[in-house]
Amino acid sequence: MKLWGGRFQKETDNLVNELNASISFDQRLYREDITGSMAHAKMLGACGIISMEDVAAILEGLQSILEDVEAGKVEFTADNEDIHMNVEALLTARIGDAGKRLHTARSRNDQVALDFRMYVREQIPTIVGQLLELETVLCKQAKQYQSAVMPGYTHLQRAQPISFAQHLMAYASMFSRDVTRLEDCAKRLNECPLGSGALAGTTYPIDRWQTAKALDFDAPMSNSLDGVSDRDYALELMSALSILMMHLSRFSEEVILWCSWEFKFIELDDAYATGSSIMPQKKNPDVAELVRGKTGRVYGDLMSLLTVMKGLPLAYNKDMQEDKEPVFDAIDTVEMCLPVFAAMIGTMTVRTDNMRKAAGKGFINATDCADYLTKKGMPFRDAYTVTGKLVAACTAQGQTLEDLTLEELKAVSELFEADVYEAINLENCMALRSSYGGPAVSETTRQIGAIEDFVKAHTK
Ligand code: ARG
Repeated sequence: MKLWGGRFQKETDNLVNELNASISFDQRLYREDITGSMAHAKMLGACGIISMEDVAAILEGLQSILEDVEAGKVEFTADNEDIHMNVEALLTARIGDAGKRLHTARSRNDQVALDFRMYVREQIPTIVGQLLELETVLCKQAKQYQSAVMPGYTHLQRAQPISFAQHLMAYASMFSRDVTRLEDCAKRLNECPLGSGALAGTTYPIDRWQTAKALDFDAPMSNSLDGVSDRDYALELMSALSILMMHLSRFSEEVILWCSWEFKFIELDDAYATGSSIMPQKKNPDVAELVRGKTGRVYGDLMSLLTVMKGLPLAYNKDMQEDKEPVFDAIDTVEMCLPVFAAMIGTMTVRTDNMRKAAGKGFINATDCADYLTKKGMPFRDAYTVTGKLVAACTAQGQTLEDLTLEELKAVSELFEADVYEAINLENCMALRSSYGGPAVSETTRQIGAIEDFVKAHTK
């Protein structure tokens, strides 16, 4: 018979049971549920709401359930709908009436709000740790390629010379912001919903500060309706995870391009690539493709919970049981992608020769040529036009700017001197871009140092 059998004349229909039960996925919350119940029981005892003997029995019973679950000795049942009722039923079966007193001054609404919040809170340090590890890998790789000239792109057209180190550090900066977004989320979510009851608090003399403190929250949530109603912390987490995955996906896209024969800027380690079942020559960047593909799932998880929540009147509605699967999926996906991605980046071989070759074509020193004329006194807009004419002429003849003789250069402007070749030499073009944030070695050294400091400061 159901918990609420007292009020009902009929058994629940089997299909309804199937639809209603969440134990298949919320059993993941067993530890948070038991920890939360222990804090609740102690508080009930301390406030004189249940006896200390009952508290002792409850704590012992819950501890034994926890151990049995971890040892794989417990089978949850859909007859008890969810993790909360499963644990309560197990407890009552083990300790009798004391077990039935645990739910005094509590509802599953504040219980599930608490469990889920604690679960989300616990996952954040894991993801942050994985991001910091990825940043460390990026720093290690970047240190080796500070002088490696590669074409920087806009519109996927060769644009200006950068170094491979600077390119990697761009991603490291994005991942730093992902870290702080997650840390912000952890700060904001750290208020305790327990004690909100079903929605309207309780007439028992409970101490919400005691349970909040015992469960490591900064404070109890201030409004009991809000306590059981909102899932903004889960949405905030998934927003941060969506942005994180967007960053990883862009990086993946580049890895995929760089692995192609058209670029061949990098080669993936055999352990992080896959072959084809028919084409013997293939070495495919499946890891990067899967990360790119899984980004869609994480966006979908976010959209799914946003949509569940958007029309719900206060306070709790059963729709909200749909909150867990997307959040679990988003967390699992990110936690699976990050370490593999880091390992793939850490083990790749970088083909600086091909990067340099690509940098040599595409006139990525054209801006420097215009800047040369500008520094000699020509207004920049004119210098830009002159250089454009040179590029057009070179393109027609299959030449680069460096191939032009001083006479040919002088023919378009008297300002060209022999030192122009220094000015448009790619290594110089990159080395001289020492403005704050630029690709010059002095700057990438600073950037790498800053990321390393960030990683240290955020490692717990
Ligand atoms: N399994 C439910 C959930 O995940 C627990 C809360 C049930 N509350 C209720 N009033 N039916 O949301």
